Amino acid sequence: MRKPIIAGNWKLHKTISESCELATQLVADLSDIDDIDVVIAPVFTALSAVAETLKGSSIQLAAQNCFPETSGAFTGEVSPDFLQDAGCNYVIVGHSERRQLLNETDAFINQKLLKVITTGLKPILCIGETLQQRQNDQMQEVLRTQLKGGLGNLSAAQMAPMVIAYEPVWAIGTGKTATNDQAQEAHRFIRNLLQQIYNSEIAAQTRIIYGGSVKPDNVAGLMQQEDIDGALVGGASLKVADFSRIVRFEK
Ligand code: PGA
Repeated sequence: MRKPIIAGNWKLHKTISESCELATQLVADLSDIDDIDVVIAPVFTALSAVAETLKGSSIQLAAQNCFPETSGAFTGEVSPDFLQDAGCNYVIVGHSERRQLLNETDAFINQKLLKVITTGLKPILCIGETLQQRQNDQMQEVLRTQLKGGLGNLSAAQMAPMVIAYEPVWAIGTGKTATNDQAQEAHRFIRNLLQQIYNSEIAAQTRIIYGGSVKPDNVAGLMQQEDIDGALVGGASLKVADFSRIVRFEK
C-alpha cells in the first residue's frame, strides 16, 4: 500500500519567524495525523529553525531545491548533505518554476536526484506539461521525456524513496485545477511508464502526487482517484486552516 503524502511548497514566502509560526500552528493542528506523510518546504534560510519547531512531531521537512555535489567551490549552492544537516528529509527537484525561470534541464535534474538519493534523502521529482503542450497534444511526450530524462540510470533499488509530482504547469498558481479525470489519466500514464522503465513492483510502490491549485474544495475528489497518492500544494499551504483541511481531505 502506498502511504498518502501531502507536501506544502512554501516557495519564496515567509521569513524565519513567520515560517516557525506557521510550522508551530501546523504541529498543533495536525498532531493526530499518523496515516499520512505531511511535509513542508520552507525557504532555505528558515529550514533549520523550522526543523527545531518540528522536533517531536511527525511533520517532515523538505527543501525546495539542491545542488548535486557534497561541498566545495560552488558559490551560492546548497547540497543534500547540508540539507540533511539542517534537518531535511525530502528535497523537491525539478519544479516547473526552476525549469522555466532557471533553465533546469532533465540531465541536471537527474544529477540532483542521484545525489539526493545517495545522501539518504527522499526526492520529490516534479514533471508536467505547459498549456501549449497540452493543446498541441504533447502531454504524453513531455511526461515521457521529463520522466526518462530525470530518472536516467537510477536503478530499481534507488527508486525506493522516489516521489513523483505530476504538476501541469497551466494549473500552478492559476486557480485552474486539472479535473479528476485529467489528473488520473496523467497519473496512470506515469505509472505505466514506470512499469515500462522498471517493473510492475516499482510502478505499484512509487507514490505519484498531484500539484496545481490544490485546495480544500478539490482535494477529496483528487484523492479518490486510483493513481493519485497525495498532493504538492503551493498557495494553499501558506494558510494553516487550508493546509490542515487538505491534509484531512476536507472541504
Ligand atoms: P499551487 O502551486 O498550489 O499554488 O498551484 C503548486 C506548486 O507549484 O507546487
